[in-house]
Amino acid sequence: MHTLIIYHSDYDHTTQIAKAIKAGVLAAGNDADVVKHELVGDFNIDDLKHADVIIFGAPVHMGSMAWQMKKLLDATANLWMEAALEGKVAAAFVTCGGFGGAGGGAEHSLIGLHSHALEHGMLVIGFPKTLPGFSDAGLQWGLCVRTGNHEGMPTAINDRQLLAARSYGSHVRETAGRILRD
Ligand SMILES: Cc1cc2nc3c(=O)[nH]c(=O)nc-3n(C[C@H](O)[C@H](O)[C@H](O)COP(=O)(O)O)c2cc1C
Repeated sequence: MHTLIIYHSDYDHTTQIAKAIKAGVLAAGNDADVVKHELVGDFNIDDLKHADVIIFGAPVHMGSMAWQMKKLLDATANLWMEAALEGKVAAAFVTCGGFGGAGGGAEHSLIGLHSHALEHGMLVIGFPKTLPGFSDAGLQWGLCVRTGNHEGMPTAINDRQLLAARSYGSHVRETAGRILRD
């Protein structure tokens, strides 16, 4: 199975999470698995066609997904015309400062990523609350890693968040395997 993790990151938090998700996908896969993680800026949109599973990721900016990710998603209109992504499996993750104690737009951003996937006819996988890591970085809509403290300042990604990201990656791979029979 070919899994693509496509995301934006300015300050590396989202990249670290993308790498941990990749490790989880690989851990749950088989010898034939190919897993790539790509920043939106370096990305050729046609490569979305080659993936069986696409995991979309973004930092939360001003209450919704960072515009760089939205720009990429809007540019997939030609793929929509061809129905090129229909039937593929999708999942979503965000990182957020979460200032104020809540998500700060995290759920909204995840749902925005889901909307895009559903627009293409993709099958969206969430993050069930019984999975390892849910209490550290889980939302039923997907993985949500908080990268700010109570003063609103950035913090380093911690080991529990990395474990949650691996857990989510494994869950997506296992579920995609059941759906796509691989
Ligand atoms: C311009 C900007 C706007 C942001 N807006 C929000 C926000 O609305 N809600 C939130 O929870 N975090 C917000 N953040 C925090 C980022 O989502 C968080 O630091 C994220 O982990 C950054 O990811 P990165 O290191 O991959 O760039 C914002 C950060 C920036 C730079």
